[in-house]
Amino acid sequence: MSFPLYAPAEEHLMLRETVRALADEKIAPHAATVDETGEFPWDAYKALVASELHAVHIPEQYGGAGADALAAVIVIEEVARACASSSLIPAVNKLGTVPLLLSASEELKQRYLAPVARGEGMFSYALSEPEAGSDAAAMKTRAVKDGDHYVLNGTKMWITNAGVSEFYTVMAVTDPEAGARGISAFVVEKADEGVSFGAKERKLGIKGSPTRQVIFENVRIPADRMIGEEGTGFKTALATLDHTRITIAAQALGIAQGALDYAIGYVKERKQFGKPIAEFQGLQFMIADMAMKLEAARQLTYAAAAKSELAMHGERVADLTFFSSAAKCAASDAAMDITTDAVQLLGGYGYTRDYPVERMMRDAKITQIYEGTNQIQRMVMARQLLK
Ligand code: CAA
Repeated sequence: MSFPLYAPAEEHLMLRETVRALADEKIAPHAATVDETGEFPWDAYKALVASELHAVHIPEQYGGAGADALAAVIVIEEVARACASSSLIPAVNKLGTVPLLLSASEELKQRYLAPVARGEGMFSYALSEPEAGSDAAAMKTRAVKDGDHYVLNGTKMWITNAGVSEFYTVMAVTDPEAGARGISAFVVEKADEGVSFGAKERKLGIKGSPTRQVIFENVRIPADRMIGEEGTGFKTALATLDHTRITIAAQALGIAQGALDYAIGYVKERKQFGKPIAEFQGLQFMIADMAMKLEAARQLTYAAAAKSELAMHGERVADLTFFSSAAKCAASDAAMDITTDAVQLLGGYGYTRDYPVERMMRDAKITQIYEGTNQIQRMVMARQLLK
């Protein structure tokens, strides 16, 4: 088997062209409205499903496209370049299903990955709680065994695409005495009795992607919905993030690329002092720095994606955790810098909703926070280096 290492292969370049064309035609035109109204981008979902781009990572044996980790990165990047909210469709489908790919029984994979691949439902990931954010192992949601069922009670918070997803990977405590080793992972369906959702959070950005609490009140699910063995849920959750923090890096790259492309077009058109402002060296240096930071983060992200792909195929990749955190951290910090500079390059216009860069700057901010704050990423990297 051969894997693309640091450089995209011909098929990756073609994939990028395909996704860019689709995103320019069907996703970008709605991005401002999605941001204004906070409505879920169903048009983007339909367009992605029609082109089998909504969950490209799902292996062929479960009806998916079987694309590698770099291909998933490229899809997310190109969708995010047009609309960050829409890029959470492929990203969160991956986040929700990687726990199954890593740890679930074959039967559970068949049952739940196939409908996602067919576009019949999305899959969210429920780890965080009101009092367990960075300290994820401090969760309180309980799953109590009752015959051949488990009964779940508790509240998850900050759950991306909650309410629009049909399926949820839920981490819950099965043994309160055992700390992180007393946490297990389950598949919960939106349709399960006792599942409800909190109000939509009122956010700075990614407004088209609902972020809500998921509340479990005596939710009784069959024991065979457990992902992996009892007590392995926290490890599965963290191992998942080793793969999916790379998709957040991809989202950050896409948002930043969108802002850079827009700013370059603008500075070539906008005239002051009798000439296009692109002719001023002060702005040229800003553009150069933006592109340099973006490309450095992209190379790190692609290297991380290559490692993720190897690990998904069972190879031991000792530095995946480091690379995943480093890519997420570097790309999201770069995206915040680049989008902020894009607003600066557009001056007063950049600060208004008549231009897309202020939206991109607001959307970029979340990439420094979710799937682990960048402070947590730095802690994870340091632990890897010092252990
Ligand atoms: N892979 C597999 N197992 C791992 C692991 C990894 N990368 N890292 C740690 N573990 C294992 C450890 O070996 C340990 O198991 P043993 O006791 O059997 O050895 C167990 O997990 C606990 O590890 P730690 O003691 O290191 O755990 P900790 O409590 O100190 O915290 C942490 C670790 C890195 C801080 C972790 O809690 C963390 O990443 N926090 C951030 C949470 C986060 O990223 N949340 C994001 C929510 S999802 C989201 O945002 C999605 C969205 O909306 C889009």
